[in-house]
Amino acid sequence: MFDVGVLAIGSYVPTKKLTNFDFEKTLETSNEWIVERTGIRERYIAEKNEKASDLALKAVQNLLSKNLVQKEEIDMIILSTATPDYKGYPSTACILQAKIGLKNIPCFDITAACSGLIYAISMANAYIKSGLYKNILVVSTEKNSEILDWQDRNTAVLFGDGASALVLSNTSKNIIKKIEISSDGENHKVLVVDPFIKMEGKEVFKYAVKEGTRLIEKVCLETNLTKEEIDIFIPHQANTRIIDGIAKKLKVDKNLFYSNVEKYGNTSSASIGIALDEVNREQKLDLSSKVALFSFGAGLSSGVLLFEYNEKI
Ligand code: UT7
Repeated sequence: MFDVGVLAIGSYVPTKKLTNFDFEKTLETSNEWIVERTGIRERYIAEKNEKASDLALKAVQNLLSKNLVQKEEIDMIILSTATPDYKGYPSTACILQAKIGLKNIPCFDITAACSGLIYAISMANAYIKSGLYKNILVVSTEKNSEILDWQDRNTAVLFGDGASALVLSNTSKNIIKKIEISSDGENHKVLVVDPFIKMEGKEVFKYAVKEGTRLIEKVCLETNLTKEEIDIFIPHQANTRIIDGIAKKLKVDKNLFYSNVEKYGNTSSASIGIALDEVNREQKLDLSSKVALFSFGAGLSSGVLLFEYNEKI
């Protein structure tokens, strides 16, 4: 079995910013309500002709510009999105492959909503651990603006667009210690896209707090770590009240939970990668920090990933 670690990261958000005050002009809502109930202040929205694969390409270009890995070394692409360029096929991963200029490697999409990044990494982890592949590009790209009902104040104010990209590799850098993924299909109706996002917010909220707490406790138990030994938690960025709720339930200082939802809104499966890239870029992590990523979302689906950060990505 080979060790698997995080070799490089990149991210991208579009340039057009939409603030809560912009929504005050079109919906019966207020900046005050949105900030108090969600923590969100602004989000970025893609141009009409900017597709999920274009956002993904920018995140990958950002990753490659760091020169930690060359594009020719990538031997697979796994891409998570709820807003593929085409509704059925081809996969957005294949379109991205062509845009990057890579040939003769397998590329495919997965669907696990906001947990897509951790699900995709869990697959990359298994391929690399077994020795079948060496450097896998995992991308999460979401053009949520395309699946929002802009007249529905319950959802329109919550989401933003963005993308993140990671290369997982057989490396001694930033080794993954544990990944746990789970689903609860019984509750698949509480968060659906048909054709726009419809959500029973309270139900998702309760699930997120309960499931986040359960998975983090499980991973700690199975890795013989106490919660206090985890240096930073990077949760899916949906709502600061969810993040605070999990911190409270775990009895962990809420300041150890990273949040940037106020700047980007909920970018679905891209959010954890965007947050990790920000933490890495702004040098908010000490070397040898234990980092726990965790997600929750439609499916319902959830995931936790624990890794040790020992080199900048
Ligand atoms: O990433 C995928 C997972 N998604 C999430 O994690 C989201 C999880 N859920 C949440 O974050 C929260 O449930 C929401 C932010 C969506 C809603 O917060 P809440 O505290 O659960 O509010 P609520 O749904 O109970 O709504 C309270 C009131 C309602 O009015 P009534 O029925 O009490 O008269 C809503 O109509 O707030 C109203 N409301 C709004 N008011 C002003 C809902 N959206 C808005 C809005 N502006 N944008």
